[in-house]
Amino acid sequence: METVVSGIRSTGKLHLGNFYGAVKNFVQMQNEYNCYFFIADYHSLTTHPNPEDLHGHVKQVLVEYLAAGIDPEKATIYVQSDVPEIAELYLYLNMNAYLGELERSTSFKDKVRSQPDNVNAGLLTYPVLMAADILIHRAIKVPVGKDQEQHLEMSRTFANRFNRLYHTDYFPEPFAFNFTKNLIKVPGLDGKGKMGKSEGEANAVYLSDEPEVIRKKVMRSLSDGGPTHENQQKPEPIQNLFDLMKIVSSADTYNHFDTQYNQCSIRYGDFKKQLAEDMIIATAPIREKINEIAKDETYLRQVARFGAIKARESASKTILEVRKIIGFKSF
Ligand code: ADP
Ligand code: TRP
Repeated sequence: METVVSGIRSTGKLHLGNFYGAVKNFVQMQNEYNCYFFIADYHSLTTHPNPEDLHGHVKQVLVEYLAAGIDPEKATIYVQSDVPEIAELYLYLNMNAYLGELERSTSFKDKVRSQPDNVNAGLLTYPVLMAADILIHRAIKVPVGKDQEQHLEMSRTFANRFNRLYHTDYFPEPFAFNFTKNLIKVPGLDGKGKMGKSEGEANAVYLSDEPEVIRKKVMRSLSDGGPTHENQQKPEPIQNLFDLMKIVSSADTYNHFDTQYNQCSIRYGDFKKQLAEDMIIATAPIREKINEIAKDETYLRQVARFGAIKARESASKTILEVRKIIGFKSF
C-alpha cells in the first residue's frame, strides 16, 4: 500500500482552505492508503508562539482532525514533536540544503516580508523540516493545497540529492495530491488572495464558526456594484466568491448564479445568502463534533499516545537505515 503523509501547522483554528486543500483528502485517503497525519508543532515555532499557547493550538488541530472524520483506527495521527526522529532527519538533510535555494523559496520570501524582525534560521530551513516530515515515512503522496507545491518540489530535490550523494535509491519522490484534478486554492473573503489564518478574521471561514458568524462574514465580503454588460469578466473579489461557491455548492447552484451574472440579473444579496448557507451545510457536522471531542481529554490523550507509538515505529526504522547509509557506526 502506498504511503501518505501530511500535516498542518498548529497556529490556530482550521478554515475552509485547510479543509478543502488538505483535510477533506485526508479523510478520503485513509481508506485507501497507509496514512500518517500529524500536527506540525515544530513548524509553528518558526513564528515564536507563546509557550502558553502551544499546547492549546496542538489540541485544537487534533480535535478538528477527529471532528472532520480522520479515524485513528485507520490513519496514524500524531504530534510532530512526539517523534524526535523527524528532528534528526532534518539535521541530516540540512547538511545538503543550500542557502541559495532556501532563500529563493516563495514562502521564505513572504515571511521575510511579513515578519522582518524575526527572520530566523528555522524559517529559512522550513522546507527541509517539511521534507523530513515526509521522507521519515518514505511517503509518495502528500495531500496539500496549491500553495505547498514548491515545498514538495524542494522535498523531491532533497530526496534525490540524498540518494545521489550516498549512491542509494532509499528515498522515493513525494508528490502533492488532491482528489480533484488540480491542487486547490481556496480564496479568502476579503477580495484578494487565498484564505489563510494570518490574513485577519474577515478573510477566513473557520470550521468552528457558528452559522450566524458565517452569514455575517459572507454578507460583509467584498463585492462591487454588479456587472454592467453581458458576459463580462468577473473582477477578483467576485471571481473569488464564485470560486468559493464552486467548492461548497452544487453545480446547479453555481450555474444558476453564473448565468445570472452573465445576464446582469444577479442580486449579490441572494448570491451571498446561498453561499453562506452552503458553507454552513458543509461545516455543520464538523462543528457539532468539535465541542464534543474537545471535552474528552482521555480520548485525546489515547489518540495522541497511540499515534506517537505507531509513527515512531515507522520513523525509527527509517532513521536506523539512514544512519547506516550515512556511515555512522557504533563502537
Ligand atoms: P494557513 O495558510 O492558514 O496558515 P497552513 O499553512 O497551516 O494554513 O496550511 C495547512 C494546509 O492547508 C496545507 O496543506 C495548505 O496547502 C492548506 N491550505 C491552507 N490555506 C489554503 C487555501 N486557501 N487553499 C487551499 N489549501 C490551503
Ligand atoms: N508546510 C505546511 C503548511 O504550511 C505544513 C506541513 C509541514 C506539511 N510539514 C508537512 C504538509 C509535511 C505536508 C507534509 O501548510
